[in-house]
Amino acid sequence: MRIWAIANQKGGVGKTTTAVTLAGLLSQRGQRVLVVDMDSHGSMTSYMGYDPDSDGSSLYSLFHSGSGSVTSMIRKTQFGKISIFTASTALATLDRQLGTQDGKGLVVAGGLSQISDDYDYALLDCPPTLGVLMVNALAACHYLVVPVQSEFLALKGLERMMRTITMMNHARMSPIPYLIVPTLFDRRTRASGQALENMKERYPAALWKSIIPVDTQFREASRAGSPISLVASRSRGSIAYNELLEDLLMLDKPDLEVVA
Ligand SMILES: Nc1ncnc2c1ncn2[C@@H]1O[C@H](COP(=O)(O)OP(=O)(O)O)[C@@H](O)[C@H]1O
Ligand SMILES: [Mg+2]
Repeated sequence: MRIWAIANQKGGVGKTTTAVTLAGLLSQRGQRVLVVDMDSHGSMTSYMGYDPDSDGSSLYSLFHSGSGSVTSMIRKTQFGKISIFTASTALATLDRQLGTQDGKGLVVAGGLSQISDDYDYALLDCPPTLGVLMVNALAACHYLVVPVQSEFLALKGLERMMRTITMMNHARMSPIPYLIVPTLFDRRTRASGQALENMKERYPAALWKSIIPVDTQFREASRAGSPISLVASRSRGSIAYNELLEDLLMLDKPDLEVVA
């Protein structure tokens, strides 16, 4: 199983949309996908048809289960090849409960290692805050996707995220490979173009070569509770994410990993 985290220390940049869309596209290619909702707001959980306020959280159980069966915490979705670790508001209390305990940064990595033969990909949809969940995601992932809204203010969140990656790399055996993905790109606005230029200047090596455009079909897809590629496969958004997936599949090469 390959583990990809989708993270940025800012909300509304397209993290959940990226995770759901990549999950849809991977599943359409026959891959078995596990999505992990690490955000206490539970957007991904709602998207996949569960209620984060009443269904309880399967990810929360992972943090409190000791040695419980990980398989029993995972739920199926209506999309055959996509399963989910659901989130709930209880996740927001984890930092207070576990913040200072040693070893709690590897709970997700440990849980996923138990089921690594059951799925081809795990996609971790991160919260916008730096806390125990983000640390778990960055410790567990093989590859990191950083969606950045194409506007000036979003670049601040990106800077914070870059500092977090540097900090996490001190604790990991190998640095986290990552790709910065400009999202919500609106070619009619100067702001989008300027933000993109700015990213090109500052992060030339880590910036994806293309962009994810603004596409109203994403709203339709989320209303339908379905990845966009299943309801509007020819939409610009779906095509752009498919291009992103192709590049990620090239970039995340297991054989390049250094075994320590
Ligand atoms: N490329 C896009 N075009 C249009 N709307 C988008 C696009 N990407 C995301 N959205 C919308 O923007 C909002 C925030 O996206 P979301 O993925 O939830 O961000 P995050 O998880 O980073 O908070 C959602 O309503 C989503 O449907
Ligand atoms: Mg989200």
